[in-house]
Amino acid sequence: MVLTRERSTLDHAIWPATARATPDGDVMVGGVRLSDIAERYGSPVHVMDELDVRQRCRDFRHAFPDAEIAYAGKAFLCRAMARWIAEEGLALDVCSAGELAVARSARFPAERILMHGNGKTPEDLRAALSYGVSRIVVDCPSEITRLAALTGRDGPAQQVLIRVTPGVDGKTHPAVATGGEEQKFGFSLASGAAAEAVRRVLAQPALALTGLHCHIGSQITGITAYQQAARRMASLLAAARDEHGVVLPHLDLGGGFAVPYLQGEHGLDPRTLAEPLITALRSACDSHRLPLPRVTLEPGRAISARAGVTLYRVLGVKHTAAGRVFVTVNGGMSDNPRPSLYGARYSIRLVGRRAAPGHRFVTVAGRHCEAGDVLVEDAELPADLRPGDLLASASTGAYHHSMASNYNLVPRPPVVGVRAGESRLLIRRETETDLLVRDVG
Ligand code: LLP
Repeated sequence: MVLTRERSTLDHAIWPATARATPDGDVMVGGVRLSDIAERYGSPVHVMDELDVRQRCRDFRHAFPDAEIAYAGKAFLCRAMARWIAEEGLALDVCSAGELAVARSARFPAERILMHGNGKTPEDLRAALSYGVSRIVVDCPSEITRLAALTGRDGPAQQVLIRVTPGVDGKTHPAVATGGEEQKFGFSLASGAAAEAVRRVLAQPALALTGLHCHIGSQITGITAYQQAARRMASLLAAARDEHGVVLPHLDLGGGFAVPYLQGEHGLDPRTLAEPLITALRSACDSHRLPLPRVTLEPGRAISARAGVTLYRVLGVKHTAAGRVFVTVNGGMSDNPRPSLYGARYSIRLVGRRAAPGHRFVTVAGRHCEAGDVLVEDAELPADLRPGDLLASASTGAYHHSMASNYNLVPRPPVVGVRAGESRLLIRRETETDLLVRDVG
């Protein structure tokens, strides 16, 4: 069993860069014992390893020295995260006025922000214009006219990218596959809608078309899908040049770079991707006699997923008639909806004490009122697991806190940052007062 090795050592493909197993059965992240974090901040609790985040940013910048790396804030955003990202020299992709408000309150430089979204509301667009975000990625025809009207003719033209559907299959879960036709994002390359969008944006004096964007999906492991997307986007850059005489300087190839969640799984390392991707783009540009555009990449998960660990307390251990063992914990689909949404699988381990010899496969279930509320279907955990034990689930730094809900009116967990032997609260635990404050009826 591959999982067995995890009992004493930690696989750094999954656990944060600074995670260390201690001889007494605990795990330290950022120099802080996870059991101390649960003691001090309660559980469930999300822990974020600042150094891991910073290292992932550096890895992307080193792998793509000439590209702009824009962290996709939807994966996880709070003010501290925005500051780490800014300090590491990354740009930021936001997709709502709310994400922008967090970036703004962290004083994230507006000239490094892009706004995305297939359904930006007028409020989202107004917030983007009022902060002066550098680029807005338009996603449907009516948005072009709406944005032009909101921008007005008096000030400088708003820089715009066009989101293109390149018709590329990223071979990922259908819920997060966005490169092909018949899904809601972008203007189709094949149907001519993308070329029409180029015409429409160029016809708006309030807008300055600076480039094209595509995002083929999330949790993508293959390099060829990115190469194919890059080639197709280059052909549209060439078509825009041929039709309008404009050489668009910018090409944003989106995010989606996979990370491993289980031991033995493979992610898509930026160092592996960089050379074949840039080579494919360069040769496509050469064949169209185009200069190499400035490339932007938008990793979300690949920056924040592995920095995160979530701690849960065991509430009960239950045996079914058929012999299945359910371990119920004090969190669940409200802090991690990914198993229910995408069938996502996780690595989980006991922390805070040494286990007696002997392991068994159990189902780690959440506390919510649904049979589908399962966090880990087939966890190999110590046979002596008991109520009060602490479990640590790895790779929970992306699309966990950002997708958390108040289902069953369970307050959302806090986020604690760790670094150099110190922990600090980044987002406090939601309280019942928070829940009641909106209930004004
Ligand atoms: N850029 C755009 C325009 C995006 O829509 C996304 C993600 C990204 C970049 C970043 O993708 P990443 O590098 O994080 O894969 N909730 C799902 C993932 C949804 C991704 C949405 N868009 C999950 O938990 O797997």
